[in-house]
Amino acid sequence: MRRKLAAGNWKMNGLTDSLDELRSLARAHPDPAVDILVCPPATLISQAAQVCAGLPVAIGGQDCHTERTGAHTGDLSAEMLKDSGACAVILGHSERREDHGETSDMVRAKARAAHAAGLMAVICLGESLAQRDAANTLDIIAAQMSLSIPDTSTAENLVIAYEPIWAIGTGKLPDAAQIGEVHDFIRTRLERRFGPGAGRGMRILYGGSVKPNNADQVFRVPNVDGALVGGASLRAEDFSPIIKALSQTG
Ligand code: PGA
Repeated sequence: MRRKLAAGNWKMNGLTDSLDELRSLARAHPDPAVDILVCPPATLISQAAQVCAGLPVAIGGQDCHTERTGAHTGDLSAEMLKDSGACAVILGHSERREDHGETSDMVRAKARAAHAAGLMAVICLGESLAQRDAANTLDIIAAQMSLSIPDTSTAENLVIAYEPIWAIGTGKLPDAAQIGEVHDFIRTRLERRFGPGAGRGMRILYGGSVKPNNADQVFRVPNVDGALVGGASLRAEDFSPIIKALSQTG
């Protein structure tokens, strides 16, 4: 029912040469059984969208402003992302919540702006190690969900990425039970808030240290509809086996 999604987050990595990785990726997956999304830095969105035009690799941004236009030096609106060829935007990544003081209220406003511009919002949630150790994970996820996800969300324009902060870029992967507990919890709350139809259709990705050698164990967990991949999305030779693993599950 839910089409799986392999999403790559290039973060602050990538120059014009990196567009070759997109060409390789598209060549390796001419007719993928899953959706593929790559979110390069904003400087590459327009070129990436041209490279991927007509190919099954969609392009997204990594952040957007809450407003459509205005005096916000250095910022980009959702409409601008859309105009440059993006169809999605990552919002509320923990690095933005930490580095830029983004609150869940801001994330919700950004997601609403993304929806208004016709973009799919990939909203990131996740607990810190201290919060997990204090057994607060589900409370944190619940609070982030109710504040970060706007009422404009549908099965088509909302994707959730559960990304435990302690797993991002660390090589530390939660075990299947830990991932499953949070994904089931998110699913239940989505169904309760948006109704069984929409709530069941919204995709929930896992993110944090997904690599070619561990992807299949992540993808076997129920309610995991794909992955948001950082480091291993930078090169087609790493991202490709992850996409293949996702295609082979369920
Ligand atoms: P990672 O990053 O795959 O490099 O751990 C994931 C993310 O931050 O989205």
